Amino acid sequence: MDFEAFINQVSQKIKVDFTSYKQKRVKRRTKNFIKKHNLSDYKSCFDKIKTDPQFKREFLEHMTINTTEFFRNPDNYKYLQEEVLPKLLKKHNKIKIWSAASSIGCEAYTIAIILNQLGVGPKRYEIKATDIDSTALATARKGKYKPTNLKKVDQSIIDQYFTKENNNYLLDAKIKQQVKFKRLNLLKDDYETNINLILCRNVFIYFTKEIKNRLTQKLSQALTDDGILFLGNTEYLLQPKKYNLEKLYTSFYKKA
Ligand SMILES: C[S@@+](CC[C@H](N)C(=O)[O-])C[C@H]1O[C@@H](n2cnc3c(N)ncnc32)[C@H](O)[C@@H]1O
Repeated sequence: MDFEAFINQVSQKIKVDFTSYKQKRVKRRTKNFIKKHNLSDYKSCFDKIKTDPQFKREFLEHMTINTTEFFRNPDNYKYLQEEVLPKLLKKHNKIKIWSAASSIGCEAYTIAIILNQLGVGPKRYEIKATDIDSTALATARKGKYKPTNLKKVDQSIIDQYFTKENNNYLLDAKIKQQVKFKRLNLLKDDYETNINLILCRNVFIYFTKEIKNRLTQKLSQALTDDGILFLGNTEYLLQPKKYNLEKLYTSFYKKA
């Protein structure tokens, strides 16, 4: 079995189309995974994926990089807090926010913390967070974090919203209940519409150019007429107009 046959069959078995991801990286990660599990080749890896549900879950986790942190790129969150959210809240009684590849939840909870800092009541917003990786979502629902996830967070925010337990930080129940998590595959599931703010950060880097274009179009369609798309810092759009978007600030695009 060669790599192409392996990835096609794994995609069908796991129901995640790995051919939509940059193939060089998928191949490298697969090879690492095979080595880590002392397997001999693609076929033995595929046989184990077919028969061992735990192994199958581990494969998916290995392929989807879950690295994330609270207030990742603080400058962008400052802009969000000072410009984007106040403007949206001024125009709308209630805003819909979607963290579209939320991993273990740091990004969605950062938004909830910012809204609490702004003194906005939870009746005025809805925060949904989705990811393809169910293990990451389970961690998100627990709200238990490692110090590395909080490197960019001001001590005053840590004191206000987290409790230290051994070497972990537990997020306040008040913030936890403000985010609803759900599994969603950006490649094949339908997106909700009329969303005021979408955060889709640090996931497009893994997709092929064609897929990135198609998903950007879908995200733009999911936004309200004045909706905002917040991308990762290395995921800028060269021609935002192509997607009915215009650049607002580094990583921020507004529906045009
Ligand atoms: C590097 S993390 C980014 C987390 C967060 N957005 C941030 O910027 O800190 C990438 C996330 O994308 C998720 N992901 C990968 N492919 C996906 C897909 N097809 N649909 C939904 N989520 C996906 C992974 O499971 C992972 O949690």
